[in-house]
Amino acid sequence: MYSKFFALFFAIPFSITACDITATMTSQTYHLVYAQFTFHNETRSPVYQFNQDGEMKTVHITGTFCNMKPTRLDAYKTYPKLGDKPCGSSQAFIEGFGYVNYVVRSKLCTLCGLKKFRV
Ligand SMILES: *[C@@H]1O[C@H](CO)[C@@H](O)[C@H](O)[C@H]1NC(C)=O
Repeated sequence: MYSKFFALFFAIPFSITACDITATMTSQTYHLVYAQFTFHNETRSPVYQFNQDGEMKTVHITGTFCNMKPTRLDAYKTYPKLGDKPCGSSQAFIEGFGYVNYVVRSKLCTLCGLKKFRV
């Protein structure tokens, strides 16, 4: 049972399971809003702070087997401490090469506008 699963798993070509994604976050906000990524490998990005409208921050996501786990972006109204619940969250399984843009909004604390362009 397990051996069959692993045989299938390792048969997937490397090129499909690697990723190199440039994620940008653009704020649409008139209040402080914080955002933090939880990557597919379960590590967290630094906390990004957006003070005003139209700020842009870029995060480079690379690795292999990126689509085994979702990459999540959480938004917070106050600086996130461990265990804090985000007020907005967006997650996606990412893979391949390209760009992702997130719009971080403070008003309803929503994250939206996920777009992905393959190059
Ligand atoms: C996890 O993935 C992120 C994004 O690609 C990377 O910056 C980080 O170094 C990785 N951490 C580990 C432990 O591999």
